[in-house]
Amino acid sequence: MPAVTEAALDDSGELAGRILVLDDERNIRRTLRMVLEGEGATVLDADTAERALETLRAGVEGTLEGGPVELLLADVKLPGMSGLELLERLCELGGGTPPLPVILISGHATVSDAVRATRLGAFDFFEKPLARDRVVVGVRNALRHYNAERELRALRARLHGSAELIGESEPMQGLLKQIAKVGPTRARVLIQGESGTGKELVARAMHEASDRAGANFVKVNCAAIPRELIESELFGHERGAFTGATGQKRGLFELADGGTIFLDEIGDMDLNAQAKVLRVLQSGELMRVGGERPIKVDVRVIAATHRNLKELVSAGEFREDLYFRLAVVPITVPPLRDRPGDVALLCRHYIDVACRENGVAGKPIAREATAALEAYRWPGNVRELRNVMERMSILSDAELTLEDVPEDIINATRERAAPDGGEGGLAELLAELERDPPPSGLSLKALRESIERAIIHQRLGEFGWNVSRTAESLGVERTHLHKKMKLLGITRGGV
Ligand SMILES: Nc1ncnc2c1ncn2[C@@H]1O[C@H](COP(=O)(O)OP(=O)(O)OP(=O)(O)O)[C@@H](O)[C@H]1O
Ligand SMILES: [Mg+2]
Repeated sequence: MPAVTEAALDDSGELAGRILVLDDERNIRRTLRMVLEGEGATVLDADTAERALETLRAGVEGTLEGGPVELLLADVKLPGMSGLELLERLCELGGGTPPLPVILISGHATVSDAVRATRLGAFDFFEKPLARDRVVVGVRNALRHYNAERELRALRARLHGSAELIGESEPMQGLLKQIAKVGPTRARVLIQGESGTGKELVARAMHEASDRAGANFVKVNCAAIPRELIESELFGHERGAFTGATGQKRGLFELADGGTIFLDEIGDMDLNAQAKVLRVLQSGELMRVGGERPIKVDVRVIAATHRNLKELVSAGEFREDLYFRLAVVPITVPPLRDRPGDVALLCRHYIDVACRENGVAGKPIAREATAALEAYRWPGNVRELRNVMERMSILSDAELTLEDVPEDIINATRERAAPDGGEGGLAELLAELERDPPPSGLSLKALRESIERAIIHQRLGEFGWNVSRTAESLGVERTHLHKKMKLLGITRGGV
C-alpha cells in the first residue's frame, strides 16, 4: 500500500456522512456498505438509477428519514438508466452541476467514459476491482469538498445576505415584478420602507438583474460615515488634500464604475454632501478632494431610506432637486404585517438557515406556532423574524412548538385581539366606510356582499391566494370560502 495513502488515512477521523451506493450487483453494494460503515458513514443503497433518483429527491424534499444524501457512489453500467445518464439528470436538476458530489464506478472504464464523467462534474472515478483504501480516501475527499462548499455558501449568505427575496403574497409579487422590470434598466431607484423590510436585498436583486451584475455593487451607509469624511469616502482624494491624506485614494463612486452604488440611509446625508452628490448625478463626473480634473464615471445609483424623504424635503432637510434625481423610480417595500401570508415561508427559510449554520438537522414547526407568528405585527419586519427564528431554532427541541414562541409576541397578539384594544382591521374598515359610504339605495344584501368581496379579496392577496390559509384566518371552513368565492365571483386576477 503506498505511503501517501496511509498518510491520508491517518489524518482521517470518521467518515461522517450519508452516502447512497448505487450498483446492480448485490455483492458490490454489500462490500461498499461494510467498508464505509466501518469508517463511520451512514450508507443507503439502490439497485437501479431510477430508485436512486427517488431517494435523492426524497432527501431534498425533506421526506427521507435522517436527512438528505450527501454523496452518491454510482456504477456506470446498470440495467435501465446508466450511471452517466443519472449524472446528467442530476446536472439538469442542479442547474448545470450536480447538487451533491458524485463518484462513478466502472468495471471496464473506457477513457471516454471517464472524460465524459468529469465533464459532467463527477467528483471522482473508481475502477473495479475496488481497492479499499482508494475508496475510503476518495469518499473522504468528496465529503470534505461537500462540507467546505456548504460552509462557504452559508458564510457568503451571512456576509452579503442572500439576494433571494422570499414571498408569494400579492404585495411581494408586485415588488418582484417591479424588480424584474426596472432592475435591468439603468434607471435610478429610490427604495423606501420600514426598517428590516428588505430594502438592501431589493437593491442587490436590482443590481443582479442588470447587465452590471459582473461589476461591483458598492454599498455606502450614509448614516455611518462621519460628516467630515463623507466627501473623500465618496469621491476619493489626492495626496495632501488635507491633513492625513498621505496618499491618493479612489472613492466609492470610482470603485462602482461600471456597476452600481447603493446609497443606503440617504435620508441621513447632510446638505453639504447632498450638493456634491447632486453635481455628480447631473454631470456624470466627479472631482476627488484636492483634485484638479474631473473624472468620468459610469455608475448606476440606487438609494434607500427608512425615513420619509418627502417629509424631509418639506422640513428643508433634504434637497428637493436631489430627491427628484434619485426617485426616478420610487419603490416601496411593504411591511411584513401587510403580508402575513409570507410569514410561514420566511419562518421555514430562516429555521433552515439557522439549523444549517448551527450544524443541526432541520426542525419542523408546529401549525399553532406558525399561526401565532402570522398574527403578530412584526414591528422589526423580516429582520426581527429572522432573529426570532434563530433563537427559537436554537432553544427548541426536535420541533418548534407554540411554547417556543417568545412570550412578548404572544402577549402583543393577545392585546391586539382583545375587544377594548380595538380590532385593527375592522376599525379601519369601519372608518373607511364612514369616509367613503357606499351608494345609497343598495340593498342590505348587496351591501354585505360588496363588503365581503372586498375583505375576502384583500385577505386572499395577503396570503398569496392560498385558500386554506385564508379560510383559516377568516375563521371559516375551506369549502365554505370556496363557495363564497364562487358566489361572489372572486377569481384571481379580478373581482
Ligand atoms: N423578502 C425577504 N426574503 C428573505 N429575507 C429577507 C426578506 N426581506 C428581508 N430579509 C432579510 O431581513 C434582513 C433585513 O433586510 P435588509 O437589511 O435588506 O432590510 P432593510 O430594509 O435594509 O433594513 P434597514 O432599514 O434597517 O436597513 C436581512 O437579513 C435580509 O436578508
Ligand atoms: Mg438596510
